[in-house]
Amino acid sequence: MNFTPDEWRAPFGQGGSPWDGQFYVEMAQTLERACFDYIMIEDKLMVSETYGGSRELGLRSGVMVPKHDPVPLAVAMGMATNHLGIVATMSTLAYPPFLLARLCSTVDSLTKGRFGWNVVTSAENLAAQNFGLDKLPARELRYEMAEEYMDVVGKLFDSWEEGAVRLDREAGIYADHTKVHPIDHQGKFFKVRGPLNTVRSPQGRPVYVQAGASPRGRDFAARYADSIVSVASGVAEMKVFRDDIRARAAAVGRNPDTIKVLFCVTPTLGETEAEARERHDRMLNAPHFIADMLASVSAITDIDFAKFDLDQPLPERLVTNGEQGTLDKFQQWGSGKTLRQLVVDGAGGIVSSVELIGTPKAVAARMGEVMEEVGGDGFLITTPILRVGRRYLVEVADGLVPELQRLGLTRTEYKHKLLRDNLQEF
Ligand SMILES: Cc1cc2nc3c(=O)[nH]c(=O)nc-3n(C[C@H](O)[C@H](O)[C@H](O)COP(=O)(O)O)c2cc1C
Repeated sequence: MNFTPDEWRAPFGQGGSPWDGQFYVEMAQTLERACFDYIMIEDKLMVSETYGGSRELGLRSGVMVPKHDPVPLAVAMGMATNHLGIVATMSTLAYPPFLLARLCSTVDSLTKGRFGWNVVTSAENLAAQNFGLDKLPARELRYEMAEEYMDVVGKLFDSWEEGAVRLDREAGIYADHTKVHPIDHQGKFFKVRGPLNTVRSPQGRPVYVQAGASPRGRDFAARYADSIVSVASGVAEMKVFRDDIRARAAAVGRNPDTIKVLFCVTPTLGETEAEARERHDRMLNAPHFIADMLASVSAITDIDFAKFDLDQPLPERLVTNGEQGTLDKFQQWGSGKTLRQLVVDGAGGIVSSVELIGTPKAVAARMGEVMEEVGGDGFLITTPILRVGRRYLVEVADGLVPELQRLGLTRTEYKHKLLRDNLQEF
């Protein structure tokens, strides 16, 4: 989810303004009731001007903008829940590593060990221009910087050893200074002395979530991530992606079972299969759907889709310095489909790895089959234009999840305190 407006065009929204965070806090509570591992708050750091070369459509429709900062929301969600993991997106382009490590440490303590960081490098020129750059560094360089960044924050998280806080009244010692160390990092991109001035947080460091899709991005994810979120086209591709990540992880000496790969899906639910299909078709045929989807894909991929004919195939395979994986999934190069078909495909194509349309019972059974074929680890439930209303939450939490629980596919209660431990359960 994103800290954005709700489905404001649709008859069932959130009720009230999204900006006081109350709806999203209730969303976290709803997902906790359904025993989800985590809620992920995505983020971008610009007002896109890619679609049609203008801010107009994004702003007029409320697509990918406005977006409020995920971190304060993560804190509000964490304070209102007890078990759910809360993952916030922060860009290595935007935060100096010391500030990010300190923020993550603070939020992990505030949430009693349930915080996760979605590690992104940012993928848009317009975002780079908000941080003193003329344009986005090339992907290779972004990942090279991000690798050193992970090294720095890792050392900062460990700059307080376990047990550094003694709180020994008799000896008059709050913290044992021999267990708090500077890191004296001096690398190609960063120079950081350390130590952190926050105590070691319950998880030591936040859970790392990542979504690298390019070969370089996958290597990065396989090296660092506790959980990887991905979009694939169908079951076979899901399996190939997960196997590939596991092989890359093993190659750098990690146990692949400790990395949880979650595939994005957008279930459409109904009391009957026909009702679910009808709702799905209605969404696709809504007057603004095509333009909203294209504005959203344009913002994410830095490619202006307004310049292509909707009823023709794309003229060439498109390449971006932005999110290439997302672009490839969307453009289905070689399929001969028109742009309109690409948008309609799989409820907008960019977000659902497999089609899930039907009753909660049928969709739960299909999710089980898919996981069986893929080999694991789970799904990340999302929505086509990344906006969510209250009704959809209830359908998922009180319709779909109980069916998954009946099949023994998801938990009925949390067994651990820390997000990292809960994540390892499935
Ligand atoms: C499910 C999912 C969620 C993502 N969330 C964000 C996000 O919130 N912010 C962001 O800047 N990038 C986000 N990304 C983009 C990824 O971080 C990454 O840049 C993208 O998948 C392309 O991979 P590559 O950089 O290896 O080409 C997301 C990607 C996926 C698949």
